[in-house]
Amino acid sequence: MSEGRRVRGGRALAAYAMITQPGQEVTPSDPHTGVAVIVTVPVRRGQPVEQAARRRAGRRAACLDDAPFEYLCWGAMSHVPSRVLVTGAAGRLGSAVLRVLAAQGAAVVGLDRVDPGGTEAFFTGSAGDVDLVARAMAGVDTVIHLAAIPRPTLGAPEEVFVNNVAATFVVLDQAARAGVRRAVIASSLSITGLPFSPHPAVPDYLPVDEAMPLQIADPYALSKQADEATAEMVARRDGMAVVALRFPMLGEPEFLAEEARIHRDDPGHGANAMWAYLDMRDAAMACWLGATAALSGVHPLYVAAPDTLSPYPTQDLVARCLPGVPVRAPLPGRSVPIDTAAARALLGFQAAHHFEITPAELP
Ligand SMILES: NC(=O)c1ccc[n+]([C@@H]2O[C@H](COP(=O)([O-])OP(=O)(O)OC[C@H]3O[C@@H](n4cnc5c(N)ncnc54)[C@H](O)[C@@H]3O)[C@@H](O)[C@H]2O)c1
Repeated sequence: MSEGRRVRGGRALAAYAMITQPGQEVTPSDPHTGVAVIVTVPVRRGQPVEQAARRRAGRRAACLDDAPFEYLCWGAMSHVPSRVLVTGAAGRLGSAVLRVLAAQGAAVVGLDRVDPGGTEAFFTGSAGDVDLVARAMAGVDTVIHLAAIPRPTLGAPEEVFVNNVAATFVVLDQAARAGVRRAVIASSLSITGLPFSPHPAVPDYLPVDEAMPLQIADPYALSKQADEATAEMVARRDGMAVVALRFPMLGEPEFLAEEARIHRDDPGHGANAMWAYLDMRDAAMACWLGATAALSGVHPLYVAAPDTLSPYPTQDLVARCLPGVPVRAPLPGRSVPIDTAAARALLGFQAAHHFEITPAELP
């Protein structure tokens, strides 16, 4: 495996394997992806090329979707942000992300409708305002886009949908035009359609994973689906790498304590959201990992604490509240019925802050 050299806006850390037909010449540096080192792996016709490439490129290799069609490219790059635009910077998650970025020594530009103070470079106004966002993008090489109305109940349906999707389109489109190569966007577990469904709805199976079909029936979930589609567009059109973090309920410890009390009093509470949670500090760290991990292309990823916010055994909760839903993997103890393996594999993300709950028998 070869070492990469420093490249503009990032660093190629791992080897890069390019699958060619035997004898085919390849150019040893791709200005589009910034990958500096290429290893050629001749393959016989019919050989499973992905496996061969993966072996050569390393465990954390990701497929470079924009590779020319004659060959498959697997590579791994880490991204080193130098100036990060955070939208929704005045919000709950935005504030936590600003703290993580400060700790990591990254230069930050904030954007929100309100300026909470404390950030030197701050743009006040709408993330859907093209001129404002274009100005905020100056010198930025990484975007963490969090600005959104975070629940369908916080506005009229058209307001929630239009605000969220317009902001995401303008931010990612302007980022691409400014040459930004990496973005993280806040998606949601709500994209499943389950948490805010106006009708009773259950997951197709458990644990929920990224392959599970969506059952969208509210404007907030639809806005997150459109946001992820926008991410796909800029990845395909502009080669931007985008991580869409599908967050569950986020909270600081005091907020989680109150939610845990509600979960204890009502075992069915949270069934439509898999009883899941994530500490705000972990959510902010997931954003940082999404901004820096070695990857390319678009990655919608569920992230959650490994346990639930309910004191009761998960399999008992599922049997009572989600009867008949196929359970594909063991759900020991209070484990959350969400498969977060993809986020672990791609970002190295694992929640560090567990909310302590004393287990109890389901009453
Ligand atoms: N909090 C949760 O439990 C949760 C769960 C899943 C996903 N999310 C997502 O995470 C992100 C952050 O959520 P949060 O909890 O920090 O919400 P929040 O309401 O605390 O913060 C959102 C911020 O975005 C700003 N904003 C909204 N629309 C804007 C626009 N058009 N232009 C400029 N600023 C705008 C608001 O002023 C606010 O400061 C959102 O995208 C939300 O959908 C949150």
